[in-house]
Amino acid sequence: MSELRDWLSRHGFEQYAEIFEANDIDLDILPELSERDLEQLGVSMGNRRRLHKALAERDTEPAGPSAVNAPGEAERRQVTVLFCDMVGSTALSGTVDPELLGALIRRYQDAVAGAIGRFGGFVAKFMGDGVLAYFGFPRAFEDAAERAVSAAINVLAEVAGIELPDGTRVQARVGIATGLVVVGEIAGSGAAQERTIVGETPNLAARLQALAAPDTILVSDATQNLLGGLFELESLGEHELKGFARPVPVWRVVGEAVVESRFAASRAGRDLPMVGRAHEMGLMLDRWHLARGGEGQIVTVIGEAGIGKSRAIEALRAALADEPHARIHLQGSPYYSDSALFPVIKHLSRAAHIAAADSAAERIEKLRAAFPRRVASDAAALPLLAELLSIPADGLAPLSLMPAQRKAATIALLVDEIVRLGDTEPALLVLEDAHWVDATTLELMTQLADSIGSARLLAVVTARPDFTAPWQTRPHSTLLTLSRLGRADCARLVAGVAASQDLTAETVAAILDKTDGIPLFAEELTRNMVESAGEAAATVPATLKDSLMARLDRLGAAREVAQIAAVVGRQFPFAILDAVVPRGGSALEAALTHLVAAGILLPEGRGLERGFSFKHALLRDAAYDSLLLTRRREWHERTARAVEQRFPELAASEPEVLAYHFAEAGQPAQACDYRMRAGDRAVGRSAYQEAVAHFSAGLKSAEALPDAVDRARRQLGFLLKLGPALMVARGLQSAEAEDANRRAAELAEAIHDRPATFRAKWGLWLNANVRRKTSLARDRASELVALAQSSGDGDLLLEAYHCQWSTAFFRGDVAATLDNSRIGIETYDMKRHGHLGPAFGGHDPGVCADVCAAVALRMSGESEQAAKTIARGLALAEALDHPNTLAHALHNFSISHQIAGDRDGAFAAGSRAVALAQKFGLVPWRAGSLLLTAWAGAVGAGIADAARAERGSQFLEMSQRLVGSAQAQLEVTKGRSCPHLGHAQAQLSRQPQRLVSMLAALL
Ligand SMILES: Nc1ncnc2c1ncn2[C@@H]1O[C@H](COP(=O)(O)OP(=O)(O)OP(=O)(O)O)[C@@H](O)[C@H]1O
Ligand SMILES: [Mg+2]
Repeated sequence: MSELRDWLSRHGFEQYAEIFEANDIDLDILPELSERDLEQLGVSMGNRRRLHKALAERDTEPAGPSAVNAPGEAERRQVTVLFCDMVGSTALSGTVDPELLGALIRRYQDAVAGAIGRFGGFVAKFMGDGVLAYFGFPRAFEDAAERAVSAAINVLAEVAGIELPDGTRVQARVGIATGLVVVGEIAGSGAAQERTIVGETPNLAARLQALAAPDTILVSDATQNLLGGLFELESLGEHELKGFARPVPVWRVVGEAVVESRFAASRAGRDLPMVGRAHEMGLMLDRWHLARGGEGQIVTVIGEAGIGKSRAIEALRAALADEPHARIHLQGSPYYSDSALFPVIKHLSRAAHIAAADSAAERIEKLRAAFPRRVASDAAALPLLAELLSIPADGLAPLSLMPAQRKAATIALLVDEIVRLGDTEPALLVLEDAHWVDATTLELMTQLADSIGSARLLAVVTARPDFTAPWQTRPHSTLLTLSRLGRADCARLVAGVAASQDLTAETVAAILDKTDGIPLFAEELTRNMVESAGEAAATVPATLKDSLMARLDRLGAAREVAQIAAVVGRQFPFAILDAVVPRGGSALEAALTHLVAAGILLPEGRGLERGFSFKHALLRDAAYDSLLLTRRREWHERTARAVEQRFPELAASEPEVLAYHFAEAGQPAQACDYRMRAGDRAVGRSAYQEAVAHFSAGLKSAEALPDAVDRARRQLGFLLKLGPALMVARGLQSAEAEDANRRAAELAEAIHDRPATFRAKWGLWLNANVRRKTSLARDRASELVALAQSSGDGDLLLEAYHCQWSTAFFRGDVAATLDNSRIGIETYDMKRHGHLGPAFGGHDPGVCADVCAAVALRMSGESEQAAKTIARGLALAEALDHPNTLAHALHNFSISHQIAGDRDGAFAAGSRAVALAQKFGLVPWRAGSLLLTAWAGAVGAGIADAARAERGSQFLEMSQRLVGSAQAQLEVTKGRSCPHLGHAQAQLSRQPQRLVSMLAALL
């Protein structure tokens, strides 16, 4: 980008770049152009003034990074597009002389461009009398949609001032749409260069424009959503638009809504209860009480965007609703930071009920009526107020004051008027968004702070952190900083927004993790989640995109580093970023310093290692989302390669990180390798939930493999591990596990892989077994023995017998259990077979052989032999150090005590199993062993006494059901049918939460 373009775009004059360049004007001679020169070049009067002002300030500008994104670097971002067209221009061309028409069109273009420029829009193209403009690009604004509509209203007003040869006025139509687009690719060359926007949004804006009646503004649904209640909008229903598959909802802008506070307008219809902030509210109320008693106070509430400043003000007002008091609301606006006393003018017009259609005389009368006492006692008051409100003061006594004196007199008058409000009743003055107010309003507030001491007035000022209150050191001033909401408060806020929609605990946790205690983020993300029925989990809500992008756009050169960092992760060690960023060294250091100063990154040390994290997860997401897909892939690949080559320990300890980067880089083979490693590591640590996640992610990555055979092999590999992991994590009867096994068996047979076929069919056997389809299970076990024998694989044969003794055990066939488990005990060798547990059913076959044999021996009355066998099984389980196997052993140990009627023994072993299962998230063992401990504790024994005392009859009722269920289970264990079992379990399943919490309290 040329220096000129860069400077122009930083100051919102980019629409003139082409015309300046076409006239060989560069930045050096721009200051030398006269008013007349600029006028000839088509610069409107307002923009001429602004241009001169910006040029005058140029020398004092800090040499900072550019405020707009780098040239030529295309991006994905949300943009609001405005399309404006003149009504009847084709007809005009037939009736008006071309020269006259040209001048008319130039005036029209000038008016349109002027209005757009004032609100920060960028005129991308003039197409005859059509004007295409962007809001939110090249510079993002948190309120881009609002700016576009404000500009459109001004466009219509200004073009109406242009008269046509037939005496009528120029009319225009405007269409506005917001959406995700790809922006910034440079098209064309030389003077014809332009920044293009690709996406359906510009088309939609153009179609809406075509649909609009003369002098109306139509906006798209997405734009409407962003506007909140700031404008009055009328729904025009849905319309079929060319190029759009479905009918599109259309809204007409009726006008600006008359609002006192931006907050109330933008949150219209979203009344949610306030959470937390008790301390802050207490402090404000305390100051109110002081003020009410005649000790005036000023409280400055500082906090970042969306933290809840306006919400706190609203809560304060609600708290004072029942007390008689006077109220003044002053609202800062980003568009009027340079308009002296703008918030006061707005307030006075509202207070005096001045309407747009009122004549000057009517306005004066209304002012007089609004301030009768003042006007009667002070001759200068009315002329000063009239001047402030730009009302022609014909007929009023002229003021013989110099401008500076006039300003001082106006401020003094206003301060006095505000202070005197408290004479009749206590008063509350709110100044919202002081970071946007003009210097004169600040002067007024400072003087007010000086005179407030004995007034019955509380002034509350809100501002974002970059604001420093000039009155800060005054004696009656209090600074209140709003910090992030705590997790519990945030969770309540999320629940409030979700209302009747029950969000799962994981969804709520994900929202809390993403939103870092910023209420606005939590609210918007929840709303997005609810509205998209959970599908939008990973995306930044449209309502936040503009404000997040605006923060990133202010970064200039550091912005690209933020984008690369976003690819590396929410948290990242400096060393990795350094390895990924092409130009590291001092440039990287400078960028990081800038990012920390701008509140984008937080420095953090992990041990000796230097690192950073994004201050908000959503900022990371916004930076990430802005990258083109091709660029994202590139950076992911660089990150993956850097970690692989330079940080082998990280690659080994967190293979899932590499799997993620390779998958996002479009390298599925490497992604699969690392996912498999990550899944295996998780299984090795009995972290089955994580294992399921890794194997599932691997399965997804494998889908992207180009070669069909490779794809099938890899998918089979993941499915074979996913099935067993699911059985442990979700329960042996899990339908997902059955599905994984069925898919695996089909794939394995299709590619003639016998060991894999064995494994998959083994999974199907297990499913039949645990579903108590015991004859089917028995047949499948025999099939497995035959399959293993023909393959000559000893490991598989042991597992096939494992199936046989297990099915026999479940069928209550004591003799077959003993026969088959004995084969297992004889064959098993810990060194050779110790690895089989994680692969088959999640527990070790040697331990299983022992514990099943022990239970069968116990049932056969061979207690001594049973005790020895189970002791050996337990010792083996401990030696293997495998939690799921140990839980299995302890559970069956408890059963063997139960059979012997030994309640204490059953309770002790069961409790150990519960604790272990709890620790490692082994849900089925936890549930089964809880039943055993409940059985043991329900009748007799000290445990039950304690429980009775604590829970009374409620617990007894529950434990009786448990006894019923536990006894029923025992009957089945003994091989007898038990019709009560289904009923007892059904009763239990209806009470799971209650049951678990009662048992947890007891244990
Ligand atoms: N304590 C709270 N309880 C419930 N909702 C809250 C709370 N704080 C903030 N919110 C909600 O979060 C959103 C953002 O809050 P708010 O608009 O007050 O932020 P702000 O600090 O005024 O931001 P800005 O600087 O952009 O004006 C609002 O919808 C508000 O209702
Ligand atoms: Mg606010």
